[in-house]
Amino acid sequence: MTEAFPYRDPSLTVEQRLDDLMARMTLAEKVGQMLQLDSRGDLKEIVTTRLAGSILHTSPARLLEANDLVAGTRLAIPLLTAEDCIHGHSFWPGATVFPTQLAMAATWDAGLTERVARATAVEVAATGIHWTFSPVLCIARDLRWGRVDETFGEDPFLIGELGSAMVRGYQGGGLTDPTAILATAKHFAGYSETQGGRDASEADLSPRKLRSWFLPPFERVAREGVATFMLGYQSMDGVPITANRWLLNDVLRGEWGYTGTLVTDWDNVGRMVWEQQVCTDITEAAAVAVRAGNDLVMTTPGFFEGAQAAVAQGRLTADEIDAAVRRILRLKFQLGLFEDPRGPDPERQAAVIGTAGHAALNLEVARRSLVLLRNDGLLPLDPGGEPLRVAVLGPNADDPQAQLGDWAGNSGQVDWMPDGQPREMIETVLDGVRALAPPGWQVTYARGADVEELVPDPVGPSYPDGQPRPPISQAAPVDPEMIAEAAAAARAADVAVVVVGDTVALTGESKSTATLELQGGQIALLDAVAATGTPTVVVLVNSKPAVLPASALGAAALIQAFNPGMCGGRAIAELLLGLIEPSGRLPISVARHVGQQPVYYNQIRGQHGRRYADMTQDPQFVFGEGLSYTTVEYTDLVVHEPRVPVDGTVHASVRLTNTGSRPALETVQAYISDLVTSVTWAIRELKAYRQVLVPAGETVEVRIEVPAAECTLVTADGRRVVEPGEFDLEVGPNSRDLLAARFRID
Ligand code: NOJ
Repeated sequence: MTEAFPYRDPSLTVEQRLDDLMARMTLAEKVGQMLQLDSRGDLKEIVTTRLAGSILHTSPARLLEANDLVAGTRLAIPLLTAEDCIHGHSFWPGATVFPTQLAMAATWDAGLTERVARATAVEVAATGIHWTFSPVLCIARDLRWGRVDETFGEDPFLIGELGSAMVRGYQGGGLTDPTAILATAKHFAGYSETQGGRDASEADLSPRKLRSWFLPPFERVAREGVATFMLGYQSMDGVPITANRWLLNDVLRGEWGYTGTLVTDWDNVGRMVWEQQVCTDITEAAAVAVRAGNDLVMTTPGFFEGAQAAVAQGRLTADEIDAAVRRILRLKFQLGLFEDPRGPDPERQAAVIGTAGHAALNLEVARRSLVLLRNDGLLPLDPGGEPLRVAVLGPNADDPQAQLGDWAGNSGQVDWMPDGQPREMIETVLDGVRALAPPGWQVTYARGADVEELVPDPVGPSYPDGQPRPPISQAAPVDPEMIAEAAAAARAADVAVVVVGDTVALTGESKSTATLELQGGQIALLDAVAATGTPTVVVLVNSKPAVLPASALGAAALIQAFNPGMCGGRAIAELLLGLIEPSGRLPISVARHVGQQPVYYNQIRGQHGRRYADMTQDPQFVFGEGLSYTTVEYTDLVVHEPRVPVDGTVHASVRLTNTGSRPALETVQAYISDLVTSVTWAIRELKAYRQVLVPAGETVEVRIEVPAAECTLVTADGRRVVEPGEFDLEVGPNSRDLLAARFRID
């Protein structure tokens, strides 16, 4: 019945159609468009009573139901459907689950990251989901925070490189591309700057600190056309992000000229009443949120009544509602949803979801994400040598969910996959070693330790907004029998591979950890295996860097895998057997002790000394660190023209010599250190990197370019400038082992 209305006519411009539609809408219909509601609730009420413009967490079955319901509403405005497909379409049974963002960041490879996002978009678009809440551009500085796994690590430049690659991958050929999905830059901005690692705490950030490190990745993707922004949960300087007009309006829409759509985080508007307690009721909160510049309001059903009441009471104008609604509807027109609601397409699903091609890409990323941190020469094992007896041990050696990590399968966010992703799609380390061990090798397995026992949160089963409270992870007691069994297996083996780490109950939203140590019986297991004297490889399958005991640090080899996705176990087995070369580099610093937080590399100069009274301040492993199965020497760093104009480029070169017998994929990292600054500034900052293959025994020359305009700092009054003077270009394989060459910017 709406067919004859001009807004349905694709031959008109988007603005003409928008004008027509807006003129037909009631206030209730407009406010409804601003709602993004959780489809695990009463779908009929969501779509036909609250007139929601968008839904999230929709099971495959309910998606069809939702589209049918919309067709029966007065104006039949199509729904925008959203999901957290943050490392693959992980809540779709049988979809490809890639390594987590942190693991992907260890590849330092923007091209690969873009391909992951593209493959994800192709899978997601076939299922009727239009929008993924990814990438996460938060800077992870405090390792206690539960969401470190969702980030690209600690460096704004690397985050910007990989984040924009992901946006390009998701958004493909533009919004009219049927395989494109909307990307989200989240969580805007500063959410990760927690206090004590506690999730969603007040972020103690000045506008200058925000501009210095936290905003640049967001600004970059805004300028590159990311379709949407999602806010975090935090408040800054007393202002909840949902009410931060300066950041949303003046900076994002004003300074950066961003014209896309904003979505709050989960019940952010309601939280201003029940959690942050800065608004007396939902009417006030709705008015504050709309005034600040929010568009879509996630999972605050009461916003429907609240916003209408705010207009009736004169606390909001109709124009303020209209501005937000226009941005939401414009997106729907641009996506072409009025012509084709882009619903689920079973034929395409069969053709594109979980394909062999995507599995091959997944394996490639997993391989590239593995970071070898220690190796006394035990690795690689020689598949052509004497047959070995290998004991695969540890709680994460054969735990599919711990390997996939958070936001996947049955990690807790959705209710339609109680058994997780199909087990046969996931290769654990045990599976991988069994599959790849040459004939004649013996592979034994013992779990050796439990990590945790899950107990109900004593505060109650749900939060005030009705969301379930996750159970509490209590460290499992050391089980002497399990340890004895594992130690016996290690003793009877030539090599032990101990896979330890964390679980999804220790990862995620409101699951920050006070400690960083391996939990449960894991340290006892590592100690017991070390005591057998059997050469041991420790593999870390965990959401974020852990503080390691001496028995792990003293092992013959140490591999950091983070959550390496469905193919992670195979990739790890390939690395153990030398079928691939280790090439991952840490995107985040690893602490020696939880009390060192934060240990990020780009700290501000001026601290007294580098020691605590009882321990060094140095991290255990530094940002950018990672080994190969060969050694590469860096020499002859030269800056070609040591005086560079502000609009010029620093051209430099360095020589890399592979002194071993295996090839290396080196990540050559270039940092800038500004020698004298008008305000205190970071010791050094990553400004460029190049990945180069250095064949065994060969020397290659690598050229490095850094635009002088990137050698900036942020002044006391918040301006990003280049201050002429002397700088060091520092180049090396990580953020610690660096050659330096001086240049001047005039
Ligand atoms: C809350 C999380 O903070 C956010 O990252 C996520 O996208 C939304 N919930 C939707 O699930």
